[in-house]
Amino acid sequence: MSDTFSKAEQEVVYRVIRARRDIRHFSGQSVPEDALIRILEAAHHAPSVGFMQPWNFIMVSSREIRQKIKDSFEEMNADQLRKLSKDERKELYSRLKLEGIMEAPVNMAVTCDRNRDAPFVLGRGPMPETDLFSTCLAIQNMWLAARAEGIGIGWVSILNRSRVEEILGLPSGVRLVAYLCIGYPVEFRKKPMLEELGWKSREQLKSLVFENQWGQELTSVKLE
Ligand SMILES: Cc1cc2nc3c(=O)[nH]c(=O)nc-3n(C[C@H](O)[C@H](O)[C@H](O)COP(=O)(O)O)c2cc1C
Repeated sequence: MSDTFSKAEQEVVYRVIRARRDIRHFSGQSVPEDALIRILEAAHHAPSVGFMQPWNFIMVSSREIRQKIKDSFEEMNADQLRKLSKDERKELYSRLKLEGIMEAPVNMAVTCDRNRDAPFVLGRGPMPETDLFSTCLAIQNMWLAARAEGIGIGWVSILNRSRVEEILGLPSGVRLVAYLCIGYPVEFRKKPMLEELGWKSREQLKSLVFENQWGQELTSVKLE
């Protein structure tokens, strides 16, 4: 296998990155087992601090357990809605669909075992959160691999973390990082749903990139 990529291959990578979306509306079509295996293998090839590979994946096939997770979502979502003060934001928020727990053909919790390889994980000591960051990279690999397969993933974070950890029977030191809804989407929107529905738009990249110090304009590279 060549260790370089053709222009066409490079374009595919960027296209997948841009075309990835968070999915909350699922078509109901089931996910083939071989695609799911490829997505999990993509996750397992993510970089990790000290090659710790702190992740585990819990496929939640039980409707009963899913319902408990959904109940936690409903509770937390109502709580979040109460925290919004402006009426128009409240109204918009209440119309947003922010999960697909019961409809998605696959639910997958992704966890980080903070005790894996303890007590010494190369590189983690000075920045203890790097095991969580590593787990997020595995999730991003899943998200992109799924997109390449035409499969959508929705990340649900509007949950009571300790309650979900209890529902999933996580041992001490193992933390829930993500709860993912996976399946074929009704559509892949051109833009994020939150942008399409007027919640928030994409920031200008130029305003986010600095040079040398925080707040200092980048002059060495010309960004659009
Ligand atoms: C850590 C994390 C947590 C998220 N939690 C939720 C969530 O609870 N519900 C939801 O609808 N979307 C959730 N999202 C999806 C974001 O809203 C979405 O990524 C963002 O609006 C940009 O849209 P896109 O992913 O389609 O490009 C989450 C995304 C991330 C990275």
